[in-house]
Amino acid sequence: MASQSIKIRSLYKIFGPRGREFVEQVMRGMSKTELNREHGHVLGLKDISITIPGGGITVIMGLSGSGKSTLIRHINRLIDPTSGEVLYGDADICRMDQEQLRQFRQKKTAMVFQKFGLLPHRNVLQNAVYGLEIQGVSKGEREERAQHWIKRVGLDGFSEHYPNQLSGGMQQRVGLARALTNDAEILLMDEAYSALDPLIRVDMQAVLLDLQQELKKTVVFITHDLDEALRLGDRIAILRDGEVIQQGTPADIVLKPADDYIAAFVKEVNRARVIQVEAIMGPPSASLARLTVRIPASTTVEACLREMSFANAATATVIATDGHEIGSVSMDTLISCLVGDEAAARELPSSAPAAALLSAME
Ligand SMILES: Nc1ncnc2c1ncn2[C@@H]1O[C@H](COP(=O)(O)OP(=O)(O)OP(=O)(O)O)[C@@H](O)[C@H]1O
Ligand SMILES: [Mg+2]
Repeated sequence: MASQSIKIRSLYKIFGPRGREFVEQVMRGMSKTELNREHGHVLGLKDISITIPGGGITVIMGLSGSGKSTLIRHINRLIDPTSGEVLYGDADICRMDQEQLRQFRQKKTAMVFQKFGLLPHRNVLQNAVYGLEIQGVSKGEREERAQHWIKRVGLDGFSEHYPNQLSGGMQQRVGLARALTNDAEILLMDEAYSALDPLIRVDMQAVLLDLQQELKKTVVFITHDLDEALRLGDRIAILRDGEVIQQGTPADIVLKPADDYIAAFVKEVNRARVIQVEAIMGPPSASLARLTVRIPASTTVEACLREMSFANAATATVIATDGHEIGSVSMDTLISCLVGDEAAARELPSSAPAAALLSAME
């Protein structure tokens, strides 16, 4: 069965003993600072409405204190909302009784933590089977399932090792193997990769993307790193001071930042590696019959330029997964997208060969 989406509707979280009393004032515009100064309560989340599609990776991004952990903890109800709904399919997670909630947490969700959360006195295999052990799955079955995932995350031969015998990257692989062994539909990853060295981190991003191709879990991934967000996210939501200030695809965020704050964030991004031609293509064009290459809609601008350079083509025909033509892009369009603004685009000669552009991007 395809995973269901998680729908968060008008969610408010106000920390403090009388949180509910202040929801209305916050709705009417009371700021986080004022709430804290006047009433000693902390505004954690304000009017959050996000749909997290089943089977995709949704990234929650924002600076420290923006509410990322508070939000993800509502999904398995480690935190109760002050007001609002969190739905999984048709079930309202906030209305589940203790038993339903226990089942939901155990069977549907798995968390991967920044500090790995491994049990130090248990070896890799014993850590991986932990969730199934609690669920009462037989020893033979749980170990078979765990060994499969231990292998799959690249830890073949390490089952008997203890966490302190493993590097940070390997410990995080154990965290992932444990989550996958549970076979939960929802993976909640709160800054799971933030403690890793940069190269290991990029490795682990690749592991997740690779697994996701096959597994299609519903992944909620928190980070404060934009490159990580753009690489992993099918969708990204950006939080500031407990509010969602933009949500959309990586291309939406990079091409149409909602405000100066996000624009400043995305300024340094290599747009050509993020934006896919689908986001900038025009309609299919009959006049493009010659000197064109056919490229899939999910091709990045960078890869498209490379293809065009190889083929010495001035245009590309964009095709859907079933091969039919859905659009076209010209060299001009790609250049405008690359430089990010119209004025700069005009300064570049539109006849600039793709190869020269590619070397300028390095
Ligand atoms: N239990 C709590 N009691 C009071 N305030 C809290 C509590 N938990 C979180 N907060 C406050 O809610 C806001 C959001 O915190 P949260 O931990 O969700 O941020 P975050 O985006 O995860 O930050 P970080 O990147 O540092 O992990 C902050 O102002 C924080 O101080
Ligand atoms: Mg946090």
